[in-house]
Amino acid sequence: MLAVETRELAKTFTTLKKEPGIAGSLKSLFSRARNEVRAVCGIDLNIQRGELVGFLGPNGAGKTTTLKMLTGILNPTSGFAEVLGYTPFDRKPEMLRRISLVMGNKNQLWWDLPAWDSFVVLRELYDVPADKFKQRIDRLLEVLAISDKVNTQVRKLSLGERMKCELVAALLHAPEVVFLDEPTLGLDVVSQQAIREFLKQLHEEEGTTILLTSHYMQDVQALCDRVIVINHGEKIFDDSLEALGKTFGDRRRIVLRFREPVESSALARYGEVSDAPDNGVAIDVPREDTPTVAAAVLQHFPVEDISIEDVDIEDIIRRLFTNAPA
Ligand SMILES: Nc1ncnc2c1ncn2[C@@H]1O[C@H](COP(=O)(O)OP(=O)(O)OP(=O)(O)O)[C@@H](O)[C@H]1O
Ligand SMILES: [Mg+2]
Repeated sequence: MLAVETRELAKTFTTLKKEPGIAGSLKSLFSRARNEVRAVCGIDLNIQRGELVGFLGPNGAGKTTTLKMLTGILNPTSGFAEVLGYTPFDRKPEMLRRISLVMGNKNQLWWDLPAWDSFVVLRELYDVPADKFKQRIDRLLEVLAISDKVNTQVRKLSLGERMKCELVAALLHAPEVVFLDEPTLGLDVVSQQAIREFLKQLHEEEGTTILLTSHYMQDVQALCDRVIVINHGEKIFDDSLEALGKTFGDRRRIVLRFREPVESSALARYGEVSDAPDNGVAIDVPREDTPTVAAAVLQHFPVEDISIEDVDIEDIIRRLFTNAPA
């Protein structure tokens, strides 16, 4: 059975335009100029149960809007969506018990209470039996190493501690499908790593289906076999992470260090030039051109050190978006 299925799923936001000043306010009483934002323009998704899929795209691509439609927070303008066989916008209690949404930039816990109190309320809300609750919460708190913080007022926790508590809250009812919208946003490297490890475990041990949005490529590289990329509300890629590299990243990076300074403009004719660590210079070139460019550079410049690397996924995605039609 599919965990998530959509066909031609679309969302258009309509906002009313208002001209500035009082005259504008008066005018808008009579003529209502509308501004339409096509946030999601007909997306087809098929996600099997047990998959862990990265959902990527630049700012404003429509990721959050899609996740909100899949969790029933927003009603689609048109198209079809099913999550575990339910229509999300019906928000049936049976469905809500089996899914979860975690938003990195939104607090779902009560700010003035210790996280523990929120957990207990959620236990009641989701009808989790006491023994199951204890078992599950012990495990979540242990894996996330947050046991000693649950009695502190949420407002006093650090960003990372709060995010970990948010995750515990979102996963207490053992959801089968979890939508994560930038769960590592703004966290330090150590906390990012901890959350990544945790999600990996959750996926492997419980077979949880996960759709993950993140701007951090390490998250995607560490966790996702499959990635879906959207831009301007349209799906532009849906395949393995490896295929993403092959399709859009058939490029190599030649990293050079010189014995004496070299104007980077002199290198520009060989490919895309950027700075590399330790005063180095990197030239990105199509894979097939790598030998010729390397030979030419060695011949014409005072090269002290040269290495050839694969262009990383982050660069591939950046390129994908800069080249994508608007
Ligand atoms: N409630 C709303 N009313 C009007 N426009 C909206 C609303 N919510 C989102 N949008 C617009 O829809 C588009 C998609 O927004 P969305 O939040 O889904 O992007 P995103 O891919 O999550 O971006 P980010 O990476 O910045 O989080 C944007 O142009 C945004 O301004
Ligand atoms: Mg978003």
